[in-house]
Amino acid sequence: MPVVVSTWDSGVRANAAAWPMLAGKGSALDAVEAAGRAAEAEPSCCVGLDAFPDRDGIVTLDACIMNGNGDIGSVSYLERIKHPVSVARMVMEKTPHVLLSGKGAQEFALANGMQLESGKLSADAEREWKKWLERSNYKPEINIENRPARGPAVPYFFPDGSPNHDTMGTIAIGADGKLAGMVTTSGMAFKMHGRVGDSPIIGAGLFVDNEVGAATSSGVGEEVIRICGTHTVIEQMRMGRSPEQACSEAIRRILKRDPTKAKEIQVGFVAISRRGEIGAFAIQKGFSYSVTNTDHPNGKVFESKSYF
Ligand code: GLY
Repeated sequence: MPVVVSTWDSGVRANAAAWPMLAGKGSALDAVEAAGRAAEAEPSCCVGLDAFPDRDGIVTLDACIMNGNGDIGSVSYLERIKHPVSVARMVMEKTPHVLLSGKGAQEFALANGMQLESGKLSADAEREWKKWLERSNYKPEINIENRPARGPAVPYFFPDGSPNHDTMGTIAIGADGKLAGMVTTSGMAFKMHGRVGDSPIIGAGLFVDNEVGAATSSGVGEEVIRICGTHTVIEQMRMGRSPEQACSEAIRRILKRDPTKAKEIQVGFVAISRRGEIGAFAIQKGFSYSVTNTDHPNGKVFESKSYF
């Protein structure tokens, strides 16, 4: 320790923003916020304002942040604000509430110094959205994992190979042994307007407890919410399971509800224990996570074990 772990191969770049803070004995909370801001600032299909929109062509963002003492803040259904993770942190630190949504979240961000961005889609997002409108006949689609044979992994693909969605989840332990985590996402590509996934829901997309560890998720948020996914992972670890065993148990609970759907959906969990052990488990092959610590100061990508 310290250590920072983020979902997916692209987590290496998020970790790179967090690592100098952790290596300099900064707080895990500052470090995970920096990771989230880095992800939100990158052109990406899946995080931040350049990401793919909902089916009405509007980018709506979800984010949350939590420390190991149980302090939490979230935003959901947020439009035209560049750094949802920092708004989530302000909800945590400046309000008596834990979750602000939609217009109220946007007004709160503006009242606290953030700028209203244009709302124009990135060129990639506009192209993919228009393609989607043609083939989808305006129906939301469930993501299907299909990792490409070559090239950087873009985690989810529609059957025709175009990217669907991804979530950046980051969990960290500081040099003082305290934990924190954050999640930021645009959610499922071409979702129904107003749809909110697991990412801003504490206990679903993120849970952190200094006594136990931290966990985050990526994948079909509805399935994660149904089982209070990351809270389940942390409670399994509290009872003595390793991070990988705990993530595997959470996946088992998702699959037992409707095993016939297992091949159609992807969910991945990654967790760290307070002692710095790391583990992950996913439904499909292809879920990866990035670790940055003194052994891997430039970050290293690991492939998660999976049910299939
Ligand atoms: N896991 C992100 C979402 O479902 O929105």
